[in-house]
Amino acid sequence: MKFLIVGDIVGRPGLNRLKQELNNRKDEIDFFIVNGENSASGRGLRKKEYDEIMSYGADAITMGNHMYYRKEMASEYAKLPMLAIPANLTNLEGNKYVIVQKNGLKVGVINLLGTFAMGDMLEKNLTNPFVVVEDIIEKLKEKNVDYIFVDMHAEATAEKIAMGEFLKDKVNCVYGTHTHVQTADECILDTGMAYITDVGMTGPKDSVLGLKKEIAVARFTTGKFIHYECSTNEAMFNAIEIEFDDKTKRAISIKRINE
Ligand SMILES: [Fe+2]
Ligand SMILES: [Fe+2]
Repeated sequence: MKFLIVGDIVGRPGLNRLKQELNNRKDEIDFFIVNGENSASGRGLRKKEYDEIMSYGADAITMGNHMYYRKEMASEYAKLPMLAIPANLTNLEGNKYVIVQKNGLKVGVINLLGTFAMGDMLEKNLTNPFVVVEDIIEKLKEKNVDYIFVDMHAEATAEKIAMGEFLKDKVNCVYGTHTHVQTADECILDTGMAYITDVGMTGPKDSVLGLKKEIAVARFTTGKFIHYECSTNEAMFNAIEIEFDDKTKRAISIKRINE
């Protein structure tokens, strides 16, 4: 089975690029996982963006730290069946994992939040992702899933690499999101698990992580709080493509896409 994992979709430019790239690959890829945490103009995801991303062919959508921007979503996340919210977030209702049937196989998708540099408000509502993920894997194994993918949404590279090491004989793929900068360390571990520290971003290229450059720079130079605005520049496409052997469930190849 061939999977495509797409890094954080940022705003309208990211959504438009996603549509085009998923459409181009619909015949060769069996399963698409998309990180949608910045799809609503850079800040969170609403039902509207959820529906749009699903309509482009996504099989599952993961989130991240942008869970509170859209107040109306607090009671809505749980109603979106293919949306996995961070499983170690304690104060929001939603799917702690998603199971999707495809090509006669069951795929489990988990989203976790790292605990480093996520902001005070968020950190107060987080439990240890390493503890939480073990319980969820147990549940997924009871449901006889064939593949498990873990989106480790975190700032710190060490936390993501450690998660990969921790899960290398328990799941099929651990990949990082959140920094919006793709890392060049994609690999297949000796257990057959695919890994990358950060998939990167599908959003405005000429920007600071998808946001308008002038505002981002002004925040740093003045030290003042200025509202970020999503850049409208053309989007780059960051993703990883992984092929698995469906008999052994081991990864055969992992390819980084940065276009
Ligand atoms: Fe993001
Ligand atoms: Fe994030």
